[in-house]
Parts: sequence; C-alpha cells; structure tokens
Amino acid sequence: MDKINTLRPIEGDGRKLFIETYGCQMNVGDTEIVVSIMQQEGYIYTEKIEEADIILINTCSIRDNAEQRIWGRLSEMRRFKRKKPTLLIGIIGCMAERLKEQLTEGDLAVDIVAGPDAYRDLPRLVRIAEGGGKGVNTILSLEETYAEIAPVRIDKNGVSAYIAIMRGCNNFCSYCVVPYTRGRERSRDAETIISEARTLFENGYREVTLLGQNVNSYRTGDVDFPALVKAVAEISPLLRVRFSTSHPKDMSDELLQVMASMPNICRAIHLPAQSGSSVMLEKMNRKYTREWYLGRVAAIRHYMPDCAITTDLIAGFTDESEEDHKLTLSLMEEVGYDFAFMFKYSERPGTFAQRNMPDNIPEDVKTARLTEIINLQNKLSEQSNKRDVGKEFEILVEGTSKRREDQIFGRTSQNKVVIIDRRDHKVGDYVKVRITGCSSATLFGEEIE
Ligand code: SAH
Ligand code: SF4
Ligand code: F3S
Repeated sequence: MDKINTLRPIEGDGRKLFIETYGCQMNVGDTEIVVSIMQQEGYIYTEKIEEADIILINTCSIRDNAEQRIWGRLSEMRRFKRKKPTLLIGIIGCMAERLKEQLTEGDLAVDIVAGPDAYRDLPRLVRIAEGGGKGVNTILSLEETYAEIAPVRIDKNGVSAYIAIMRGCNNFCSYCVVPYTRGRERSRDAETIISEARTLFENGYREVTLLGQNVNSYRTGDVDFPALVKAVAEISPLLRVRFSTSHPKDMSDELLQVMASMPNICRAIHLPAQSGSSVMLEKMNRKYTREWYLGRVAAIRHYMPDCAITTDLIAGFTDESEEDHKLTLSLMEEVGYDFAFMFKYSERPGTFAQRNMPDNIPEDVKTARLTEIINLQNKLSEQSNKRDVGKEFEILVEGTSKRREDQIFGRTSQNKVVIIDRRDHKVGDYVKVRITGCSSATLFGEEIE
C-alpha cells in the first residue's frame, strides 16, 4: 500500500485529465461529477488530449454502433500510449459496466474500468493503475446519487446546465440495456437539487435541465416530480426549467397543471413513443397503448396548446409487421412531432428481448422503415417550423451563430433555435423576437419592441 501511496499525486500537482463523453445527457452530467471528484484529487481538467496524463472515456451501450465507435476509439488509444508510456486510460460509464471482462482482457490499453456508480472510487482506481495494476470497480449501488458532489461545468456556455435528479431505471423495456448498466432507480435528495439550481442561477445560469431516465417517477419523502419542478422554477422567473425524459405511462395531469401555471417551465415535452402499434408496445414492455399515448398528447395540448412535443422511435423491433410500421407513421402524423430521435432496433445482449424474442427483422427492412420514418419526420419538422413564422417568442441567447459573427442564436421555450442580429445582446439575455423565416432545422427572427 505504501508504495502505491507515494505515487499518489499531491493535491494541485497539476496532473492533467482529459475526458471524452459518449451517449446521453446523463453521461454528460456524470462527466461533470467525475471531473469534480478528480479535481479533489489534484487533477486539472484539460481540453487538449495530447497534454493528458490520464484519459477517461465515458461510454454508452445503448446500441451496437455506440459500442463499435468506442472500440475504434480504444484502438487509437494505443497510439497515445506509445507516445507517452505513463499515460493512463480509463473506460467509465455504461459500456464499462456491461463489458468489464472484455475490457480488462488481452493487450487492450485499458488501466481503469469504472461503472456509473463507482465514480467516488476513481481516485483509488487511479492509484492502483499508477502502481501498475488494473483499477476495476463496476459495483452498482441502490443508493448512490452523488447528491452533494458539485459538478464542474466543463462546457463553458455558462447559461444552461444539466442537473441529474435520479439515476438508474426500473422499467425494463424489453429492448433496453439501461436497467443493466445503470442499475435500480433512485431519486436524489430534493434539497441538494434545489440548492444546486439556485447556485447555478446565482452564477449567471439561466436554464437548468432536470435529468433522469424517467423523471416523472421522481420521489423523495413527500416530494414528487411536479413538486420538485415547481420548487426549482420558483427560484426565479428568470430561470428556465426543462426536464428529460418523460415516460408516457407516468406523465400526470398534475405535472401539466404545474407547467401551465409557471411560464418559466419550458413548453417542451420529450415523450418517447417508440412505436405507434399497441402490439409492439406490449412486446416492448412499455406499459401503455397507442390510445393511452394519444390521450397524454391530448392532455398536453389541453393544458398548453403551444407546447412542443418530441419523441424517440425504434424501427424494426422483433416481429414488427408492415402494419405495425404503418401505425408508427400514422402516430407521427397524428401527433405532428416537432422533432424526433429515430433508431433502428439493435439487439442488446442480456435484455429480455434478446433472451426471449430474437431479432427477426432483416437489416434491409429495418433500413427501409427507418428511412420512411426519417423522411416523414423531416416533413413534420419543416411544417412545425413553418407554423412558427410570423409568431412571437422570447429566446434565451446561448451563443454566436456558426455562420456569422454579427448574429447570435438562442432558444425558444419550445427548444427551437432562432438566429437574430447581435446588436448589443450577450449570452444569457432574454430577447423578444418575431419569426421571419425558417429552414428545416432553424428559425430566423427579428427583435421586437
Ligand atoms: N429513458 C428514456 C430512453 C433512454 S435511451 C426513455 O425511456 O424514454 C434513448 C432511446 O434509445 C430510447 O428512447 C429508444 O428509442 C432508444 N433505444 C433504446 N434501446 C434501444 C435498442 N436496443 N435499439 C434501438 N434503439 C434503442
Ligand atoms: Fe430503457 Fe425503458 Fe428505462 Fe428508458 S424507460 S431507460 S427505454 S428501460
Ligand atoms: Fe447510453 Fe448509458 Fe445513456 S447506455 S444512452 S450512456 S444511460
């Protein structure tokens, strides 16, 4: 142990940490927690990979192509190690959890493997690696929420931040690997969430996104999700509040009433449908039907007619017939989604679907269905943008337009990007705009008043 301890970096000795993040917003939030933990140990975060003494890759397992990308990246890591033999490489996150054995086998350039609930242990794992061993911890926890760890915000937009309010997932949708990589659902103490949001606001942030795999089932003591959102929104009318993701089965009228009563809770709901066919939804173990889903959409429209609705869709899940697929297309038309994330079904080892309903849709059929879904969504997104032309919105300015220095962009409450002339506006300002035109992905506006 002594030998290992002498290798421990003295606080502030300036060893540099580089971290690369794949996957969902939860991973982005986790990266900020990891940076915070490593800073406590004296590591300094760097944006330059060549400078790093340690490279961590925060990984995703959701689909096979997500993992393939990371295997590719790992083989590139050998090159960095050759140049700098003392360099340490760590794989953290969902793929670390799922593939711990493979990741520590053979001559892979991996020194550290840490699952999503093992980040407090990273300093010890790093010390083991510095001593020439492999630092591995993939134990999942029933309690860990990193509640009191203040995330280090490494993307410097300074206006909008993620706040993880819960971890894990209990839903076991039959296709999904998340309950296995992230373990059981647990909610983070409400006071720590509210105080993190307040500190962000006091530091100039104007938007927080509350994150979880199913935020609607948040609960600690007698604080449920509607109560939490309300408390965060009450910090200031100038603080925008967003949240993601909502599982349709738990989307309550109470939440919609709270949203409708507070204009700073954003008019945008991400409500993943996955499929428009009740037969498929049953096989997916989603616990709602097409009719239930459409009922929730009607409730959203009832309380907030101007609310954007976005979704996730999977093409070609096991046994999906042409008729099921057509039902997905008709659901899309019926809801008129503003935006969607669309995927081909990817069978994940260990899931209920992989064990009990083998993938039987040929690749070319999946591709053709996905293409149809994407083409339809492009049309719907364009229609949604065209409907906004002539309307007025308040945008929160986030940065300079990519194309022109004299233009800036911000988002509407509905989460759409609007480009306007800069004038004397800066990041973090609210600006009232009228929409003058649009492309398929962006709105163009002019300032009013
Ligand atoms: N908790 C969120 C989803 C997280 S994963 C929810 O339930 O809404 C993000 C999206 O990835 C899912 O909504 C689903 O559309 C997609 N996805 C998950 N597993 C998949 C798989 N095996 N193949 C293809 N897409 C998948
Ligand atoms: Fe996966 Fe379903 Fe949980 Fe979302 S709700 S993370 S799709 S198991
Ligand atoms: Fe990927 Fe894990 Fe998120 S599998 S989508 S990083 S929860």
